[in-house]
Amino acid sequence: MPKQQREHWASKFGFVLAAAGSAIGLGNIWRFPYKAGEYGGGAFVVAYIVSVFIIGIPVLIAEFIIGRSAQKSPVGAFRELRDSRYWPLVGWLGLLTGFMILSYYSVVGGWILKYIVVSCTNGFQTGAATAEFNGFLASPGQQVLWHGVFMLVNIFIVRGGISSGIEKWSKILMPSLLVILFVLMVNSLLTSGAAEGMRFLLKPDFSKLTRAGMLEALGHAFFSLSLGMGAMLTYGSYLDKDINISASSLEIVVLNTFYAIMAGLMIFPVVFTYGVDPGAGPGLFFVTLPEVFARMPGGQIVGFFFFLLVAFAAITSAISLLEVVVSFFIDELGWTRRRSDYILGCVIFLFGIPSALSFNLWSGVTLFGGKNIFDILDLLATNFMLPVGGFFIAVFAGWILTHGEKEAEIKRVENTFHFYDIWHVLIKYVTPIALIIVLLYTTGIIRFLE
Ligand code: PFF
Repeated sequence: MPKQQREHWASKFGFVLAAAGSAIGLGNIWRFPYKAGEYGGGAFVVAYIVSVFIIGIPVLIAEFIIGRSAQKSPVGAFRELRDSRYWPLVGWLGLLTGFMILSYYSVVGGWILKYIVVSCTNGFQTGAATAEFNGFLASPGQQVLWHGVFMLVNIFIVRGGISSGIEKWSKILMPSLLVILFVLMVNSLLTSGAAEGMRFLLKPDFSKLTRAGMLEALGHAFFSLSLGMGAMLTYGSYLDKDINISASSLEIVVLNTFYAIMAGLMIFPVVFTYGVDPGAGPGLFFVTLPEVFARMPGGQIVGFFFFLLVAFAAITSAISLLEVVVSFFIDELGWTRRRSDYILGCVIFLFGIPSALSFNLWSGVTLFGGKNIFDILDLLATNFMLPVGGFFIAVFAGWILTHGEKEAEIKRVENTFHFYDIWHVLIKYVTPIALIIVLLYTTGIIRFLE
């Protein structure tokens, strides 16, 4: 088979936006603000930023180095760099994780699309949000339908390839996301609950930042940067040699944190203004906020833009998950992009159906003390598979690759203030240890910390 020319990003700007698009997702807009509120506001924000520095940036750089030097998606990348039977297993784990996460992420993506339609048609009615959301969850047909629509959008974007699919759409969706987020944040900060909302999100209360809170911050830094399953590795494999990996990584991380804080400043002021519960769970987006939109003047328009924004964030994350799987079939089996995209998109859609049915027909299928299929997939993938994958990526970059191989990637155009040496100590010692602790905590082995 003749070796095909590998696709590449058209510009550094496009690459940074696409990678930031993968990072900025439901994790930023929904999970981060809630966790911050729970674990001491500004104190959690500080812990999160420290976590980003000790495990986020090091693993992000490691994934880019591995991807770019191998010019392959995860399974092939490990095989290309080391002749070993075992290292490609890390790639396989990433592939499986991406497959699993996308199957249920897409179900939530479908809820968001449905709520865009709701805000365009009958809008939100006071006191009706809980019943409406429960009714929607109870309908197997609606759940599967919207999950399918969300997958179709992803299939459509990934079909275009790297520069004219993922990059092109990231350049449209990410700036639009910023504009909508900014306008909604200002609108929210002008309501009477602004001071209270800001206090809830940002005022540091170190007494609430327990050890459990610090570990949450570490775990969240990891999920929120899309690390541990080779999504960033795959994006790195399409990167030109002259692009500065460390500078790009810093830009991606800054954008990711910035969007998360803006999302918090958009959500909490209105939550306090309308006296609704700032609590967690899918309820915040699909019950609490619709209730706010029902009561707020102009709430239907605000609600429409809010769900549009969340959809943009979810789509740019989901396409990176689909790309990991699609690129495997292109690289390893020589499939065309279209074939790989259509077939894998459909397979993941089918695999997501049990998650879509977890809230209705199959709600009785539970494990681990009452968790449904959707919850189990999420639990396994984010609490277990991502940190395990990240651990091995860190070990590979820290201990297996030679200095020469690494310096060829990150000292290529920059060589300032010992950046490489600092990164190397982190990826070799600090990050693997931190990830083991996260893993022990999330699997419940060190519950005594709480
Ligand atoms: N980073 C995304 C978020 O914060 O919502 C979630 C995610 C996307 C995780 C892609 C992993 C991934 F590969």
